[in-house]
Amino acid sequence: MGKTLRIGIITAYLAEDWHSQQLVAAAKAYGDAVVIRPEQLAASLTRDGVALLTRGLTLDSMDGFVLARGFGERGNADFLVPVYQILERTGTVLVNSINAVLTAIDKFESSYRLQQAGLPTPNVAVVQDAGMGRQVLRAWGRAVAKPLFGSLGLGIELLEDTAPGRAVLPVLLERFGAVYLQEYISRPERDIRAFVVGDRVEASMYRRAAPGSWVTNIHQGGEAEACELDPATQRLAVAAAQAIGLDYTGVDLLEGPEGPVVIEVNGNPLWRGLLQATGRNMADAILAWVVQRILTTTRKGGERHAEATPQR
Ligand SMILES: Nc1ncnc2c1ncn2[C@@H]1O[C@H](COP(=O)(O)OP(=O)(O)O)[C@@H](O)[C@H]1O
Ligand SMILES: [Mg+2]
Repeated sequence: MGKTLRIGIITAYLAEDWHSQQLVAAAKAYGDAVVIRPEQLAASLTRDGVALLTRGLTLDSMDGFVLARGFGERGNADFLVPVYQILERTGTVLVNSINAVLTAIDKFESSYRLQQAGLPTPNVAVVQDAGMGRQVLRAWGRAVAKPLFGSLGLGIELLEDTAPGRAVLPVLLERFGAVYLQEYISRPERDIRAFVVGDRVEASMYRRAAPGSWVTNIHQGGEAEACELDPATQRLAVAAAQAIGLDYTGVDLLEGPEGPVVIEVNGNPLWRGLLQATGRNMADAILAWVVQRILTTTRKGGERHAEATPQR
């Protein structure tokens, strides 16, 4: 059996990012893995149409793409966004979808989509002045303030409706212009990370906060332990991924008093901690999903069906 698929792995951080390396290795099992650096992308518009290029190759010579780290220090993000959108618009498989990634990095937009999809997620308020922020604190008693664009548990603060809690509001407003507040969910000293690929939860774990901390992110010293989720929680995680439009994602859930709630859906999820806890490398699952999508969405792919099994 020949190695037939040619999959582009788009990453600004091949040398630095273990995840990108894992995706490249997993793609090689299906054929060629072409590493594409975002800063080496170019576009040409002529009477013949639009062509997206990288180092002498046109992107339509490839069967599908993993958008691993689509934006780096070099290149121009304002140019790259429409490049990725054009790539997708022509029917090419791009995992994750650029629009889904853009939604996921925006906490307000993500919460809006979850709420509109009717999924259990905490109440959210975004305010641009301290007076409205104080009203929210008074109504809720406790709120979690998060940067509108942030991850890894950075910049997250628990605000009480007390003088010191209220005093944080003008500081955050001065810095960010707007404050995203989420109702605090009483929960055990852990949360759930469910890694969704395609239409299923591939692996999941509990994360426990480090001593003296209340956030559970691995990046903040949280400890991971593999767990098995009940079918309803698994369906909730998959529905959350689909509400944002992500093919693969880490969904954060809290075990609230009325059942599981989704607090966040990550567009660029890490899985090193998950691999350590569960022994499952999500790169394999992601590439299997990419290949499945290539084979089911293109006629070209249909002819290749028999050969597209990992060559290992
Ligand atoms: N509404 C909330 N109630 C209780 N704990 C929360 C809430 N929101 C976040 N946390 C804690 O903070 C952590 C980080 O929050 P999250 O929204 O996932 O932001 P980040 O993008 O920084 O990971 C969560 O994993 C959880 O432990
Ligand atoms: Mg999180």
